[in-house]
Amino acid sequence: MVQKDAFEALEHKIMALRENSRTGDERKTMDEVFDRDTLLGIYKLMTDGYLDTIQYPVSTGKEGNVFAVADDEGKLFALKIYRTSNASFNRIAKYIEGDKRFRGIAGSRRKVIFAWANKEFRNLQRLVDAGVRVPSPIRYQRNMLMMEYIGNKRGPAPLLRNVVLDDPGKVYETIVKYMRLAYQEAGLVHADLSEYNILYYRKRPVIIDVGQAVLVDHVNSKDFLLRDIENINRYFRGLEVDVMDRDELLLAITEASR
Ligand SMILES: Nc1ncnc2c1ncn2[C@@H]1O[C@H](COP(=O)(O)OP(=O)(O)OP(=O)(O)O)[C@@H](O)[C@H]1O
Ligand SMILES: [Mg+2]
Repeated sequence: MVQKDAFEALEHKIMALRENSRTGDERKTMDEVFDRDTLLGIYKLMTDGYLDTIQYPVSTGKEGNVFAVADDEGKLFALKIYRTSNASFNRIAKYIEGDKRFRGIAGSRRKVIFAWANKEFRNLQRLVDAGVRVPSPIRYQRNMLMMEYIGNKRGPAPLLRNVVLDDPGKVYETIVKYMRLAYQEAGLVHADLSEYNILYYRKRPVIIDVGQAVLVDHVNSKDFLLRDIENINRYFRGLEVDVMDRDELLLAITEASR
């Protein structure tokens, strides 16, 4: 009975989110996000005691949505829900195919999306273990990932690109340190690193969106790393930071002991 009430409350909340979506496009997005798989996943997180309420939408992206959710003590978490549509599948399939951790799962669209949530979860855990500041992963379930919420009651932390930094040089150094730790200790290249996938929280950068991060032995890892380096250098050069030369930085990140 309690469970039935919880499920009804959840449906109610989702209906309300849908009604609050202003445009037809936004409503369509909500309907796509809260498909049957997703409702079942959320329901499982609820009955397992990880999640009590959905608080508010944080972001609506092309491949997924992020919500602020709370447990029964009111503690906030971020819930990232990947859409199980064709478009998402086509974009991510190539990252899964080249990853030895996911050999043999290509094929079924849902399986690939579920593997993607699992992949982001595992990448986050590796990065936490390596000492890179990322949201701590809490749990993955089907096409969704629950993780530490970066922000406070007033809202999520801003993206790096929306912050005026007191000391951009120091933030650049921290990000370079994280790229090196990711490579050396976690064996990962982010592969979509830019001012759009870094939050700024308590005066420090927090790296997010690590679903596409690949192991360093992935065939394209060097190209991905060079692209990350160029993005970060471009951004901080724009803030008048005296950035490291591309190849020098590549060495600093990849060389064993420095
Ligand atoms: N753990 C978190 N805590 C707070 N906010 C978060 C968290 N994770 C993600 N966000 C917010 O949600 C947005 C989208 O997250 P993310 O980049 O991981 O997803 P995405 O699928 O790449 O979406 P997009 O296409 O918008 O980049 C982020 O830009 C950030 O504002
Ligand atoms: Mg992103």
